[in-house]
Amino acid sequence: MIQYTCSIEAITPSQLEGFFEGWPNPPSARTHLRILQGSYRVVLAVDTDTGQVVGFVNAISDGVLAAYIPLLEVRPEYRGRGIGSELVRHLQALLAGLYMVDLVCDPKLEAYYTRLGFTPARAMVQRDFKVQNGRMPDPKAR
Ligand SMILES: CC(C)(COP(=O)(O)OP(=O)(O)OC[C@H]1O[C@@H](n2cnc3c(N)ncnc32)[C@H](O)[C@@H]1OP(=O)(O)O)[C@@H](O)C(=O)NCCC(=O)NCCS
Repeated sequence: MIQYTCSIEAITPSQLEGFFEGWPNPPSARTHLRILQGSYRVVLAVDTDTGQVVGFVNAISDGVLAAYIPLLEVRPEYRGRGIGSELVRHLQALLAGLYMVDLVCDPKLEAYYTRLGFTPARAMVQRDFKVQNGRMPDPKAR
């Protein structure tokens, strides 16, 4: 059974192994937990049979007007059964009352997010791939 929770208090890094599929320089499970801890709101999908987190979504926010959804991922073997949509719907409920809820996605996911109530828009982004894993570079290594 899949259980949805917005509490991360009892979550350990070992429950978070296996995310950031395809990222060349992914955050570790420990860093993943720090990302969740630093977020404004988080929703996790947990497989109650294994205790593993099988999907997650997070939002960062000023808590007044705007929220941004940086990450949504469902483990490959759990995809296509509505877990991603359910995670977003739970998060939208937690963010109700905010004026702006934004995210950036590939064009191929526009229809997916449109079904969930988002509207396509242009975005501008900056990425520093040296720190994609969430760790500052060692200044001594420069
Ligand atoms: C996007 C993602 C979270 C969807 O999770 P999910 O649990 O499979 O989503 P749902 O079951 O609610 O919806 C599945 C639908 O998502 C859409 N979808 C998912 N991935 C897609 C992709 N790469 N291209 C186009 N559509 C996609 C399809 O419409 C699919 O419908 P189908 O089951 O009829 O094929 C999941 O594919 C994932 O983790 N992908 C890798 C990370 C990623 O791209 N995250 C989004 C960042 S903006």
